[in-house]
Amino acid sequence: MISIEQPIIQMQGVEKVYGGYSPALKGVDLEISKGEFVFLTGPSGSGKSTLLKLLFCAERPTGGSIVVDDMDLSTLSGSQIPYLRRKVGVIFQDFKLLPNYTVFDNVALSLEVLGLTRKQVEKRVTAIIESVGLLEKINRLAVQLSGGEQQRVAIARAVVNRPPIILADEPTGNLDRARTTEVVELMNELNARGTTIIFATHDETLFTNTHRRVLTLREGILERDQKG
Ligand SMILES: Nc1ncnc2c1ncn2[C@@H]1O[C@H](COP(=O)(O)OP(=O)(O)OP(=O)(O)O)[C@@H](O)[C@H]1O
Ligand SMILES: [Mg+2]
Repeated sequence: MISIEQPIIQMQGVEKVYGGYSPALKGVDLEISKGEFVFLTGPSGSGKSTLLKLLFCAERPTGGSIVVDDMDLSTLSGSQIPYLRRKVGVIFQDFKLLPNYTVFDNVALSLEVLGLTRKQVEKRVTAIIESVGLLEKINRLAVQLSGGEQQRVAIARAVVNRPPIILADEPTGNLDRARTTEVVELMNELNARGTTIIFATHDETLFTNTHRRVLTLREGILERDQKG
């Protein structure tokens, strides 16, 4: 059987200039296949977060074209953005939890739009919270958790509605080695179930021994596009 790799993300000649400054991204061409898991690395300020932000319309490109799961982001209207966001789970450096909601509620809120029964919500939320190792704190308020625990709640929140694409921006930045390994394993499991993942990180140990593709940004230029 011939398998054709279907791109789920396509960027062509993408440029991003934040008003008045030198470009954060210059002529980025990138294709990511459905079900791929790629690492995105590069020095601080090289454009990693900018690239990810463009993929869920948190920022708009100043040049070039971006297509995500057949949605052309250059023509996407504001009212269509929620449809894009349902397909794209984001784990960001500045994760924002609702501080006075419990761990359970912070995660369950992402499922509201799906119209699941209370029982289904409970089952899914509990399972994902267990997989990030926070079951014993499920009824704590987010504000009562440590930074690393909050980061794990943000990860659970991003993946609980099973989006086909996950964009993770330094998702292990506040975590110790053991927790980092757990998060990478969770990403591997999600990827094994078909989720496309872009994982931005400075931590070379996460990708030096994998077969994953590693993308490197340097001063806004995508320098290397090869297997890691
Ligand atoms: N809102 C903004 N306004 C102006 N310049 C910005 C803005 N956001 C980012 N930049 C600039 O764009 C460049 C790329 O920033 P970006 O946050 O994408 O880098 P990064 O690779 O994610 O860095 P880090 O590893 O430190 O997170 C930097 O020079 C940064 O100063
Ligand atoms: Mg960044």
